[in-house]
Formats: sequence, C-alpha cells, structure tokens
Amino acid sequence: MDLLLINGPNLNLVGKREPSIYGSQTLDEIQDDLFTFASQLGAKLKCFQSNSEGDMIDCIQKSVGSIDGIIINAGAYTHTSIALRDALLGVAIPYVEVHLSNIYSREEFRHKSFLSDKALGLVSGFGSNSYRLALQGIVNYLKQV
Ligand code: DQA
Repeated sequence: MDLLLINGPNLNLVGKREPSIYGSQTLDEIQDDLFTFASQLGAKLKCFQSNSEGDMIDCIQKSVGSIDGIIINAGAYTHTSIALRDALLGVAIPYVEVHLSNIYSREEFRHKSFLSDKALGLVSGFGSNSYRLALQGIVNYLKQV
C-alpha cells in the first residue's frame, strides 16, 4: 500500500511557527515518526511539502497509478483552493484532510474547507497526532476495499 503525505504552505515552518497553535515538533520530526508508523501498519509513505499551489497540484496529478491514498494538510489553501479540490477529485484517489489545529475553534475564515466534503475523513485539532490518526484511518479503509 503506497501513501502520499502532502503538506502545503508554511507547514515547512512547523516547530518554529506559532508553537502554541501548531506545536514544537518540526515537519521532519513529524514525518520521521510517520515513516515508522506507516511501516508498522504495512504501508509505504512518501512525503511532499510545497508553498506553491501549482506544485501541490502537479504532485497530486503525478500520483496516479502509484499512490493508493493521500493524506493532505493543505494549510491555508484548504480555505481558498478550488483548484486543489479539483485536482484531488480529478485523480480520484481517496484522501484524508488533516490539520494540526482545530480549524473550527479558530477564526471564521478557517471554518470553510474546500476539501472536507469529498474527503474520506477529516482529522483536526490533535497536533502532530492528527497525522497519525489520519494514517491509521486511511490504512484501515484501504485494507477493506
Ligand atoms: C492548518 C490550519 C490552516 O487554517 C492554516 O492556514 C495552516 C495550518 C493546520 O494544520 O492547523 O497553515 O492547516
């Protein structure tokens, strides 16, 4: 089972960026933990981060044929990007939406997600553990289909 984790804009700064909201673990530390967790679950994980919407879309389009499931934290593009939504629906690869913070307990502009209604599931608010929960969820789902 091949999985892809996509992190969007400013998530390369996690660990330094607003640590009271996003925690003190860096993206590399979060990803290292997820590589181990994925292999314990019998999955292979690839990770991609970009601050550019177009690069994220290219990455999604290139996953066709090699990726069974996507875990995505689109950062602020979650709330703005119809193009990312279209890319995810276009490739028809099941995806889980992830957020470190609980987007529904924050500013109102974060309450709108262009991704969640078509996602397999949404994990938001558990800090870096949101990624683990999403990984577990998508692995369980893919083992059943
Ligand atoms: C985020 C929440 C978004 O609203 C924000 O723009 C981010 C991070 C999160 O992981 O909590 O960049 O996706």
